[in-house]
Amino acid sequence: MQFPEELRTTAENYAMTFGINRLTKSAAEVSAKYREERADGTELVSGGAGTAAYAVTRMPATFAAVSCALEHALMHYGGDIVSCADVGAGTGAAGWAASLLIESLETLHCYERVQSMRELGERFMREAEIPVSAEWRSLDITKNELPQSYDLITAAYVLNELTDTDRARAVSSLWEKTEGMLLIAEPGTKTGYRNIMQARRLLLESGASIAYPCPGAAECPLPEDDWCHFTARAARSKLHKQLKGGDVPYEDEKFSCIAAVRGSCSPCERRILRHPQIASGMISLHVCTASGVEDMKVTKSSKLFKTARKSASGDAV
Ligand SMILES: C[S@@+](CC[C@H](N)C(=O)[O-])C[C@H]1O[C@@H](n2cnc3c(N)ncnc32)[C@H](O)[C@@H]1O
Repeated sequence: MQFPEELRTTAENYAMTFGINRLTKSAAEVSAKYREERADGTELVSGGAGTAAYAVTRMPATFAAVSCALEHALMHYGGDIVSCADVGAGTGAAGWAASLLIESLETLHCYERVQSMRELGERFMREAEIPVSAEWRSLDITKNELPQSYDLITAAYVLNELTDTDRARAVSSLWEKTEGMLLIAEPGTKTGYRNIMQARRLLLESGASIAYPCPGAAECPLPEDDWCHFTARAARSKLHKQLKGGDVPYEDEKFSCIAAVRGSCSPCERRILRHPQIASGMISLHVCTASGVEDMKVTKSSKLFKTARKSASGDAV
């Protein structure tokens, strides 16, 4: 799903009030901080220009990743979703994705500990007219629990900012308040995947079913040197190119994720792990199944051929 144009315009118009020089400097600082993958609980982005730079340079990519993950997860979950909490909401990327993908959604509560993020996220939702009733609340997830339960809870690109101990506590506490589905997304790095695996183990121990991306509940079958991640494509604006450099009209955001649900769900039989290799009359798919990782050959005579040709990594077969 594409980043909403109204939201992009609102974010960029606001960001430009800081002037291009200050914004460029802040964007470079934000990128450098995220590259460090510190995971020590410190605040990485704050202040007006830093938050505005985050909204222009990172929010379209995190929105692309969460909307891709959520769209897939919803295919395997049949429960009603009326209420949603977005935790570590930043400037609201995951809340926006949920509001646009879930027609039945009525209430969205965005929880965030940094004031400048809360203020900007709230302003964007008001000015760009998010199609649900949205409320922003101050919360540090390492210190307090969510005050109520929700059908859907999203935590996007936030666990990687917490220490190992706080991360485990946060996952358990978010699961406690999940009535339907908990969706966690992290950067598609080895560290992001490790965080997802830690969350997956805790959630399975707490009785959750995994709706996405795993076909089964057994130990992840990937070898030590590999990690499960997918890619979501986000269009780049002129300002985005100016702030981050390069001319390519899109960026590919790599992410790792897990969607855990209460009760049963219908996970896929096979999930494509890598970009399909297409040769004449034959498509090779590297897939994850409940009994391990497999290489699958789909020939022209197979009824799967047409679907396989249009498939991408992250899709179910
Ligand atoms: C990388 S940003 C991601 C924001 C948003 N979820 C997105 O996907 O664009 C991480 C956010 O988590 C927030 N955060 C970090 N630790 C937190 C905590 N302990 N409690 C609440 N929010 C936290 C940060 O302030 C920041 O806004």
